[in-house]
Amino acid sequence: MKAAIIHQYGSSHELHAEEVPKPLVDRIDDPHKVLIRVYAAGINPMDTKVRSGAMNPLLSDNFPKILGGECAGIVEEVGLMVKDIQPGDRVVASLGAEGGGYAEYAVAKDTNIVKLPDGVTFVQAAALPIAAGTALQALLNKGQLRPNDRVLINGATGGVGTFAIQIAKILGAYVTAVCSAEGAALARQLGADQVIDYTTSDFTNGLEKYDVVFDAIGNSSFDDSQNILKEDGVYITTLPSAKQVLNQAITTFTGKKAESLIFTFNHDDMNWLLKQVTDGNLVPVIERTYRLEELALAHAASEAEHVKGKLVVEVQSEPVAEKS
Ligand SMILES: NC(=O)c1ccc[n+]([C@@H]2O[C@H](COP(=O)([O-])OP(=O)(O)OC[C@H]3O[C@@H](n4cnc5c(N)ncnc54)[C@H](OP(=O)(O)O)[C@@H]3O)[C@@H](O)[C@H]2O)c1
Repeated sequence: MKAAIIHQYGSSHELHAEEVPKPLVDRIDDPHKVLIRVYAAGINPMDTKVRSGAMNPLLSDNFPKILGGECAGIVEEVGLMVKDIQPGDRVVASLGAEGGGYAEYAVAKDTNIVKLPDGVTFVQAAALPIAAGTALQALLNKGQLRPNDRVLINGATGGVGTFAIQIAKILGAYVTAVCSAEGAALARQLGADQVIDYTTSDFTNGLEKYDVVFDAIGNSSFDDSQNILKEDGVYITTLPSAKQVLNQAITTFTGKKAESLIFTFNHDDMNWLLKQVTDGNLVPVIERTYRLEELALAHAASEAEHVKGKLVVEVQSEPVAEKS
């Protein structure tokens, strides 16, 4: 099969599309595994960190390595103990930091797979797990966002941020988006009530107070954001520093709280997100799709840190009969 692989950690130039052996799922020996024919795979900053070696203390050192932490496609084979999923099902899967999604076939654990409702394309589905899951878990689980709450989202036009704006609106909040002037129209189109341009204003110096400050790109701090939090407000980041971890411990029993979010795949969250897409409340913003041969370009674009919405690899075209 064709896959985008690396033979060693390094820059985006290490990524090449090559022929590699197709993975297999043995019904007896892999009782909880599922073989998926991949149609689309999400591209996340995590993939670029895996590729560069920044995450290598946490990962196996097996090369060649196929990157890609999430994918969507059609089930081809299932292990003996897999319940409720069968060959032919359209699914979305989380593959974790070990990856495997940038390929024509991927193997996922049955616990990390959800069936797709009709009407959600593979490209849309592949954009969801990490970015939309992070936004949902941050705002709902950590922020406990409620109707009429005021939330500020930093990095509002990125993969996590574009979902965060829309999820905050679904939850009934009043949304202030922090992005560049270039992204302001997109933020408003997704539902932002107010926009702060980070190139001209420091959002931590504003006068308004928020129930939740969600830093989707993780370039601020709890210390700097304290003065814009309400007395019982929560600051949440996707990139916790050592100081942030200390602040989380210190603020456990105080009014203003520091929190961080580490995404974990969860069936209920994934099904909720898919329902929002089906109902038309949540629209994955796809800046561009790439072919497997173009992954080096895609990673370079991601690392430039100005992607609006998501980048997705379209491994093969959606079968016409499966289209909504
Ligand atoms: N902890 C977890 O489990 C978890 C899960 C998911 C993601 N993450 C991390 O969260 C971060 C964001 O992920 P992502 O997928 O949203 O990234 P992304 O899509 O690459 O974010 C790009 C966006 O960031 C905006 N941006 C760049 N500089 C900015 C600044 N100084 N202030 C405000 N916005 C700025 C850009 O807007 P402009 O183009 O207008 O500048 C662009 O729209 C990554 O570091 C990722 O690794 C962590």
